[in-house]
Amino acid sequence: MPIQTTSKIWHNGNLIPWEQATLHVMSHVVHYGSSVFEGIRCYGQPQGSAIFRLPEHMQRLLDSAKIYRMEVPYTLEELCAGVVDVVEANGVSPCYIRPIVLRGYGEIGVSPKGSPIEVYIANFPWGKYIEGNGGADVCISSWNRLAPNTMPALAKAGANYMNSQLIHMEAEANGYQEGIGLDVNGLVSEGSGENVFVVRNGVIFTPPLGSSALSGITRDSVLTLARHLGLPVTEQSLPRELLYIADEVFFTGTAAEVQPIHSIDRIVIGDGKPGEITKKIADEFFAIVNGLKPDRFGWLTPVKVNASEPVRA
Ligand SMILES: Cc1ncc(COP(=O)(O)O)c(C=O)c1O
Repeated sequence: MPIQTTSKIWHNGNLIPWEQATLHVMSHVVHYGSSVFEGIRCYGQPQGSAIFRLPEHMQRLLDSAKIYRMEVPYTLEELCAGVVDVVEANGVSPCYIRPIVLRGYGEIGVSPKGSPIEVYIANFPWGKYIEGNGGADVCISSWNRLAPNTMPALAKAGANYMNSQLIHMEAEANGYQEGIGLDVNGLVSEGSGENVFVVRNGVIFTPPLGSSALSGITRDSVLTLARHLGLPVTEQSLPRELLYIADEVFFTGTAAEVQPIHSIDRIVIGDGKPGEITKKIADEFFAIVNGLKPDRFGWLTPVKVNASEPVRA
């Protein structure tokens, strides 16, 4: 779906017109993928609008930048305030928020020293990422996720998404909605843009961060919800074949939210319907983000958005 534009983008502390948020083709990021970014959702609620886990997302942005020795000249508080400013200025809710830190126009060598750090924050309407409430049909990709000590998987870096593109394009080309990558040891890692959860015999499993999985904010939220619901949950290495014999499998992610999986490599998971535990967690997650249950974990940052026009889902 083409990006639906909004009015302003936050750039280095100022709100500038959407059309003016442009880069020179010789910018370092264009050639070497030198960016780190975030994806955040702002939800419409009966009592107003609220951004989901804003400080955690912006802290991960700063962590990603630190891994790549990018010095961001803004504090966590300033970045969070920038997100609130742009969301309120654009008057679009619900929306998806995309902060990005990149190396701009300066020198063309691989060394990033002479290229300035630029920070942008945009927001725009974005509906469901994976279609199909009954569950997604996915495959195991022939492409592995990033091997340890190559591209750091804990950094949400633009360059990592070349690997995500390979996984996602292969899946689509073969008629699946999404692909799951294995790690360098052949163990389950994650989807091209989602963490993976497996349920078997009442226990919830998800791969550890050491399996080259991103430290997903939704993953963390689901782990927290599961523990509070009294559901047994464990982070451990998962062999590929456990996916096929699982009772339930689901994705988590800011874009995908909590997404049941119907089949993997055309093997139907469980009885082919979203499972009880997946539903329990999804219900709890959506009740909190949609403001239908109290925000008991302090996950929501309220924003004053006078949405000028309804947003298409
Ligand atoms: C590769 C990858 N894994 C996992 C996730 C899920 O992370 P989060 O829940 O923070 O959006 C994402 C999305 O950001 C992703 O791109």
